[in-house]
Amino acid sequence: MPLSSPNINVLVKACRKASKTLIRDFGEIENLQVSLKGPGDFVTASDKRVEKILITELQLARPKYSILSEEIGLIKNDEEFRWIIDPIDGTANFLHGIPHFGISIGLEHNKEIICGIIYDPIKNEMFIAEKGNGSYLNNQRMRVSSRSELKNCMIVTGGPRHDAENRELVLEEYKNFSSKVSVPIRKMGSAALDMAYVAAGRCDGFWQRNLNYWDVAAGIILVKEAGGYVTDFEGDENYIENKNILVSNSKINEEMIKILK
Ligand code: 2AM
Ligand code: CA
Repeated sequence: MPLSSPNINVLVKACRKASKTLIRDFGEIENLQVSLKGPGDFVTASDKRVEKILITELQLARPKYSILSEEIGLIKNDEEFRWIIDPIDGTANFLHGIPHFGISIGLEHNKEIICGIIYDPIKNEMFIAEKGNGSYLNNQRMRVSSRSELKNCMIVTGGPRHDAENRELVLEEYKNFSSKVSVPIRKMGSAALDMAYVAAGRCDGFWQRNLNYWDVAAGIILVKEAGGYVTDFEGDENYIENKNILVSNSKINEEMIKILK
């Protein structure tokens, strides 16, 4: 693997280990779809199982680092380094037996993400990045796309939950974007993989409101190291605080901001 450093090796090892459980549990989902109870509780349990494996592995390798993870929250330790974990991003896909979800882990150093991994266990696609050393998909260096005409771009988003306060606003943004692109907007159900796909040049831009830090932490470094832009909807860097994130190749960032205004 071209990207190899002590922290990256820790991330890769933890992800590989947890993904065995994730793949096994995904195989169970099909059986549960037809059961009366449905797979809901099983998925919650699986989420926790995967999280536990990741945390155990990361703590073993780096006992002093703090951890922020979706299910258990904050494990406070050394202030300098912190793992940011989403054990299953794309939970609804997982629950419905749709093979598009992933493990996402970022590593923060003094509040800045310095490396990250997003692993899609079903497609065996590992997206990794480290500050200053580039972004990789398996063994291949990744670059964002060079498409400059929004009209020809593949844009991806998540969309509002049924109870989102800003649902109408989000749908308005969706309408605005959909009138500008010739390829219909994609909604694939995993914010982490959406960002990884922008880093890989598969998609050109992604915007979404209401995301949590663990949804985007690894994606941030993947996109930046692939030469892309990560901003909030104003073009500033407050995307973690205000939970609105816009990522794109370097060519369409300004136009996307204009549309969101
Ligand atoms: P999850 O699968 O870990 O819950 C779906 O659009 C994507 O957005 C998923 O990556 C989902 O993460 C994430 N997401 C998390 N919180 C959200 C929220 N409040 N509203 C919409 N999407 C959210
Ligand atoms: Ca998530």
